[in-house]
Amino acid sequence: MKLPLIIGNWKMNHLTEEVKAFFSDLNSRPLPGTPWIAPQFIHLPLALEMKGEAKIGAQNCHFQNSGAFTGEIAPQALKDLGVDFTLIGHSERRSLFKESGDFLNQKVLSALAAGLTVVYCVGESLGERENGTTNSVVERQLDEGLKNLPATEKLIIAYEPVWAIGTGKTATPQQAQDTHTSIAKYLKNRDLDCPILYGGSVKPSNTAELMACPNIDGALVGGASLSSEDFYQILDKAHNLD
Ligand code: 13P
Repeated sequence: MKLPLIIGNWKMNHLTEEVKAFFSDLNSRPLPGTPWIAPQFIHLPLALEMKGEAKIGAQNCHFQNSGAFTGEIAPQALKDLGVDFTLIGHSERRSLFKESGDFLNQKVLSALAAGLTVVYCVGESLGERENGTTNSVVERQLDEGLKNLPATEKLIIAYEPVWAIGTGKTATPQQAQDTHTSIAKYLKNRDLDCPILYGGSVKPSNTAELMACPNIDGALVGGASLSSEDFYQILDKAHNLD
């Protein structure tokens, strides 16, 4: 995987014309690196058609590959469509949709088995940060989600402190780096070698200072990835650190 890695998570945003405009604009620019974009499921075929240099991913998937699971999306069906990666365990899935560690573990294993790259998301709440349990919470999430993990080169970890998501409050480079260092140690102990991305109010103005930190291998970007201009700026700044 080429680093730094910048992934746009569009969440439940954009209509068809906006997807088209985003890729038309991105495709007209000389790209400093490979952008990764996760649109809504319904826009995956259009994104795959217009992707240019980009890699296209899903924001979630089920762990079963077929069956009576109304409204769900199978990892194998995503792979079959040409999708490259999927997010698993985003904090919005954990908190709003009550996805448990065990459920997320099954998804991680199935998505990897289907040949998708998995971006497994972890992060603490404000209360957990304030009571000093950030590292233990993140470690528990890693233990749960990465149980029985096969040898793989298709795993990426995204550290997203919940209190920094969509709030405009970014972790300071020191806060982000401290947690990334702890995650890197955890991964090393398990003989896992994978990129660790930071997410939470990443924007063009704070990209350089975050990406300059050791152990921060890229960014998972929400709000600022909706604009092709901002996303391009983030990609550009991450690849051209002074
Ligand atoms: P924001 O960049 O909007 O804070 O969202 C971060 C995120 O949740 C990306 O997955």
